[in-house]
Amino acid sequence: MCGIMGYVGKSPASGIILEGLARQEYRGYDSAGIALRREGEIINAKIVGRVSELVRKVGELPPECSQSTSGIGHTRWATHGGVTETNAHPHESADGMVVLVHNGIIENSREIRDELESNGIRFRTETDTEAACQLLAVLYGTCGGDALKAMRKLTSRLTGAFALVIMFRDRPDEIWCARKGSPLVTAFDGSASYCASDPTALLGHTHDLCFLEEGELALLSSDDLKFYGFDGQPRDKSPIHLNWDSVMADKGHYEHFMRKEIGEQPDVLRLTIDAHTIVTNVALEKSITLPKGLMKKIRRVQFVACGTSYYATIVARDIMESLDGNLDISVEVASEYRYRNIRGGEDTIAVFVSQSGETADTLAAARIAKALGTHCIAMTNVRGSTIDREVEHTLLSLAGPEVGVAATKTFMGQISLLALLVMHLLKERETLSASDEARLIGGLRSLPALQQSVIEREDEIAALAKKYCKSKGFFFIGRRECVPLTMEGALKLKEIAYLPSEAYAAGEMKHGPIAMLDEKLTVVALVPDTDLREKTLSNVEECRARNAPTLLIVSEGDHDASAHANDMIAVPRTEPELFPFIGVIPLQLFAYHTARSLDRDIDMPRNLAKSVTVE
Ligand code: G6P
Repeated sequence: MCGIMGYVGKSPASGIILEGLARQEYRGYDSAGIALRREGEIINAKIVGRVSELVRKVGELPPECSQSTSGIGHTRWATHGGVTETNAHPHESADGMVVLVHNGIIENSREIRDELESNGIRFRTETDTEAACQLLAVLYGTCGGDALKAMRKLTSRLTGAFALVIMFRDRPDEIWCARKGSPLVTAFDGSASYCASDPTALLGHTHDLCFLEEGELALLSSDDLKFYGFDGQPRDKSPIHLNWDSVMADKGHYEHFMRKEIGEQPDVLRLTIDAHTIVTNVALEKSITLPKGLMKKIRRVQFVACGTSYYATIVARDIMESLDGNLDISVEVASEYRYRNIRGGEDTIAVFVSQSGETADTLAAARIAKALGTHCIAMTNVRGSTIDREVEHTLLSLAGPEVGVAATKTFMGQISLLALLVMHLLKERETLSASDEARLIGGLRSLPALQQSVIEREDEIAALAKKYCKSKGFFFIGRRECVPLTMEGALKLKEIAYLPSEAYAAGEMKHGPIAMLDEKLTVVALVPDTDLREKTLSNVEECRARNAPTLLIVSEGDHDASAHANDMIAVPRTEPELFPFIGVIPLQLFAYHTARSLDRDIDMPRNLAKSVTVE
């Protein structure tokens, strides 16, 4: 939510900042802005719209601005205040001394604003951010121009979540940062310092990154990068080397990141299996070490996440449940987990899954579990992210940077690593039989090639998407291992095609939703050839009897299913528990091509942000 980029060095800053913003545009894209220096002043340029529009506006600034060797920029996902040029960041204090960008929500902004307005300071925007900006300018004055002191005072006054990046008019070679609750990463490459919300924005410059911790300040300059606590005490920080290739975050020859990322899934799966298995055995103990004997004492396992990551945890629960009937296993939406009277403690393991590692609700849920004494494991795609740093045991998924707002390859990274984690935990518990282990690892190993064969049938799926894209809505139905896929299939269509789409366990259709069916509502049914095939096909028939067109995802060779379908997509057969690994691909491609047929903005769908760092 909101992307920040800052640079101070010896090169012209504007191009570096605009490129960094473009790389983070998926974080928020309703408006954007940049601040650059010119002859002792700070010049702001802001627009409503995309970074490409900001690039045009920067081109119209006085030529000296293009020589500015420091600056800060922002892409906004509005929380407080409408989408207007005035409300776009950077914000400037009334005296012009402070220019600031912010990601997060300042919860006591109203109170600060009232106080400052009663002292005669005029606010220009409706944002919560301006309160921080105006307050800092006042504090900077009362601290006699001591920036560290003013930053300490500011951070002690603000409540809520913030990543703040600040320029002071009279400190040309400095950028100040503060972090509480919202992510911020910094780097120094020998002649320049950088900061950004997301590491992918910095990878073109350096791979050695310093992530700010909760309650930390950073001082960026062209010859140094320093850190302090909110108490003003200096902190030492060693960079983390991030092994991501910046080209992984490029679109290549694809029209959209989402399509590129769908196609990368066989590699993600292959990489995960290669990294964490030996022949037919799980080998996760190098990556995660739990106290010896712990798993034998565990009674309860909780999987906690949001959005697509939550659906990934349902896949994990189903696999775990199918292998061990004596554990109490639940999946929880993080935004609910944090407010319920949830059980925990020594006999509980909780697995928190977040591709970004920054989702506010998932982080809050993990903190609650920790306080209860629950054994916590985090799974994230971003090394150094908040969840990675806060949770004792972290597993890194190997999807590489994902740029499309709709999660695809990170889902694959999660379900593959979750499947291995589940097996690892059950092995420690001595409830995983050698034959199940060999069967599932063998099944996983065969999947990348099978996934590739589905991706290669893209034209067929695209034609179906074109045929059905005018439907007034979609129901996705399936049973057991297909249920999380119905949810993911429906979510993808909502996210990028903006079409009403709902997911139902097939048996639930009769309890209400069936009333909505007619010839304009398409039913997508997941019907792999398992013991539940007949039951799901009966539900499909109930839909057909109400004139709903049916599009079936079936197992290859199941020609008889065609009697129940207007159209079918056949996918290769797998171990039953592993069907989600293959079944998700036609759903992703179907959503992608539906959105494409409707001419939607696929990589940056309206109203969404990839990383939800506010509650
Ligand atoms: C947002 C994204 C989703 C993602 C969810 C959870 O809503 O648009 O794609 O699944 O956040 O994100 P996380 O980073 O915690 O997995």
